[in-house]
Amino acid sequence: ELKDNTIIIVLGASGDLAKKKTLPALFGLYRQKFLPRDVKIVGYARTKMDRDEFHKRATSYIKNHDDDPEVATAIQEFKDLSTYVSGSYEDGAAFDELNRHLEEIEARYQSKECNRIFYFALPPSVFVPVAKNLKEHCYISKGGVNRVIIEKPFGKDLDSARDLLSSLKQYWSEDETFRIDHYLGKEMVKNLLVLRFANVAMGAAWDKNSISNVQITFKEPFGTEGRGGYFDEFGIIRDVLQNHLLQVLSILTMERPVSFSAEDIRDEKVKVLRCIPPIERSDTLLGQYVAANGKPGYLDDDTVPPNSVCPTYAATTLWIHNPRWEGVPFILKAGKALNEAKVEVRIQFKDVTQGIFKDIARNELVIRIQPSEAVYLKLNAKTPGLYTRAIPTEMDLTYKRRFTESRIPEAYEALILDALKGDHSNFVRHDELDVAWKIFTPILHWIDGLNGQRPRPVNYPYGSRGPKELEAFITKYGYKRSGEA
Ligand code: BG6
Repeated sequence: ELKDNTIIIVLGASGDLAKKKTLPALFGLYRQKFLPRDVKIVGYARTKMDRDEFHKRATSYIKNHDDDPEVATAIQEFKDLSTYVSGSYEDGAAFDELNRHLEEIEARYQSKECNRIFYFALPPSVFVPVAKNLKEHCYISKGGVNRVIIEKPFGKDLDSARDLLSSLKQYWSEDETFRIDHYLGKEMVKNLLVLRFANVAMGAAWDKNSISNVQITFKEPFGTEGRGGYFDEFGIIRDVLQNHLLQVLSILTMERPVSFSAEDIRDEKVKVLRCIPPIERSDTLLGQYVAANGKPGYLDDDTVPPNSVCPTYAATTLWIHNPRWEGVPFILKAGKALNEAKVEVRIQFKDVTQGIFKDIARNELVIRIQPSEAVYLKLNAKTPGLYTRAIPTEMDLTYKRRFTESRIPEAYEALILDALKGDHSNFVRHDELDVAWKIFTPILHWIDGLNGQRPRPVNYPYGSRGPKELEAFITKYGYKRSGEA
């Protein structure tokens, strides 16, 4: 249930994440009337800003509001319910100040029971001091709930993630903590559960007997310009594979949860992840983009150390040792500065047994997460006419054509709403994070040069499909390119 008398406090309100994701999502929810009636929003950051300046920033991303009176009114109301406080992240006295501001707001509420939702739009270096200060200075102990919403990076490997989690746990319980992986808020990722478990036809073919290989692909058409310094510390595996793509994999491969409850779902995800051994070097392909098509290479960014061998592209193959999936390769691949923006799951089925049809295209089920959400199944059908010839074609469920009336929500809208309701299903549990790091830590330590020389990624041109070695890599795991359907 949604709580009235709720204040959402956005920490790091002047930063990039708040501007691009958190504040727009809050406004989106407000406008669609999903926020509690009495909600108030408080921005907090180091930057000194007056309320007007904050309002200007908080709503500057909203497009087309000039000619839409409904939007203009919503913006005005949104401004009226939000305020801004500036202060340090380390200083307890600053948090006392924030607390006073929150108490003033709460004094105006009718009922005594108030809720505080703290959203960390913060750099990881201040996660722990802020968690501590909030607990010590801004925690309400009588009635109502306190929650924190926090997002990666959660450490850099298994040990540092465990350290971070145990530091945070001193102040905030698992129940109060909502760890975002924003891929879990995406419509098509949520759809996986329905596609799999609400369809007998899907369920029947969902195993090693029918499936040859699976690819989960993330492609972005832009490089790391502007955030190269940050990216270089992490690399593409920590940025995308270890979290977003592994989350997709776990929902795709878990057994059916006993119920829709958060713990039942997350139990199954953890169980399947525990069947995956750490990734082998031989199952890995690393790349880095170089200048091409008038675009700069990764190393041309001044904030990137010269000669960095940080991968901006990675393909890795994971194996699940359980009866359902033994022997099926799951290829996770992600890259920056590629030829297109696309995130998809591609499940390639096995060949039909030899006999009446030869050299016929394999079935493929594609779940396109973005852009243009879609599910399509490549299959063979008889060419219409007075002879029998099979041609590859497809059954196509493209969302914007089929569901013309529906708006697909933003991932952050869905997740913030869940956190307000106290529903943990689409948030990352501590043991899920732990097992994710177990799978990736050895390969990351190798890439970081912790046990020898750092491996050198192969080059690929900005704007290309990725390293030229990719084709051989996926073929090695049994992927067969079929005729274009
Ligand atoms: C973030 C990564 O977690 O996800 C970014 O840090 C990446 O590098 C982004 O661009 C992708 O998110 P989306 O929603 O645009 O697919």
